[in-house]
Amino acid sequence: MLRRAWVCYPAGCLLIRQDILARKTIRVLCLGDLVGRPGRRAIRECLPQIKLDHRIDFTIVNVENATNGAGLRVKEGEELLGYGIDCMTTGDHILDFPESSDYAEREYRVLRPVNYEMKGRGAWIYDKGDGVRIGVVNACGHVFMKERCKTRNVFHATLEAVEKLREETPVIFVDMHGEATSEKIGMGWHLDGKASAVFGSHTHVQTADIQILPQGTGYITDLGMTGPHEGVIGRDLEAVLKRFTTEEKHFMKVAKGWVRLTGAIFEVEPASGKCVGTELFSHQLETSEDPATEGA
Ligand SMILES: [Fe+2]
Ligand SMILES: [Fe+2]
Repeated sequence: MLRRAWVCYPAGCLLIRQDILARKTIRVLCLGDLVGRPGRRAIRECLPQIKLDHRIDFTIVNVENATNGAGLRVKEGEELLGYGIDCMTTGDHILDFPESSDYAEREYRVLRPVNYEMKGRGAWIYDKGDGVRIGVVNACGHVFMKERCKTRNVFHATLEAVEKLREETPVIFVDMHGEATSEKIGMGWHLDGKASAVFGSHTHVQTADIQILPQGTGYITDLGMTGPHEGVIGRDLEAVLKRFTTEEKHFMKVAKGWVRLTGAIFEVEPASGKCVGTELFSHQLETSEDPATEGA
């Protein structure tokens, strides 16, 4: 149970929630690409209990596939924020719906890649009133990605954003959305000692390389996926195999079957911003997606 007592630090009169003070760390849950209705259901049914069970202080979810498997409309964005997500990152699908641009501009909890030329924010600082300010940067890699991602060098743009946030807080998380493992690993090293954690997204497959880099940055190449796992990276198995075998392009609906949330938990010292603990996270829902209501 959270204790709602407050302590006033003489230097800067920072208000620190006492349960965080007792632990001396915060725990941040980062979840991989949320796919369609099954992914939204996973958050609705599981996030509150996961937060309690794992003592989560802040939740970041990549939601670039939240609407029918690609993109984010206002409707699904508002639905997800209502379930208690603190920050939603995106990626190359952010402009799949025209309304997403205006939505990213007016909703500070929706980030778009920092190296994209569009409305909205590529980085932001979140203050939940517990004395810990958490900066988040959303980046999008270049390798095997759309041309739109390449308007600005992602390594330059991300480092610049991190350094600007560090003027306000040492606690900074970076979502490096990209296809190539090498590019994401490179970003981890590029930001070692400057960010609290760098995590990859986009491939929808959780990697087994979670670690703390030498200068105190938590790192994982890809968080994986929050969505249906009896398909191919969240899409219907039959449709994907048909596309691979015939090379015909056609719509691939969201997969059905077992739903899992995958990602990572990073434990960070608020004073230094250093990562002091990492946990690979995976949670499967007790019931599979209802085929009668699959998709969207
Ligand atoms: Fe993506
Ligand atoms: Fe994705």
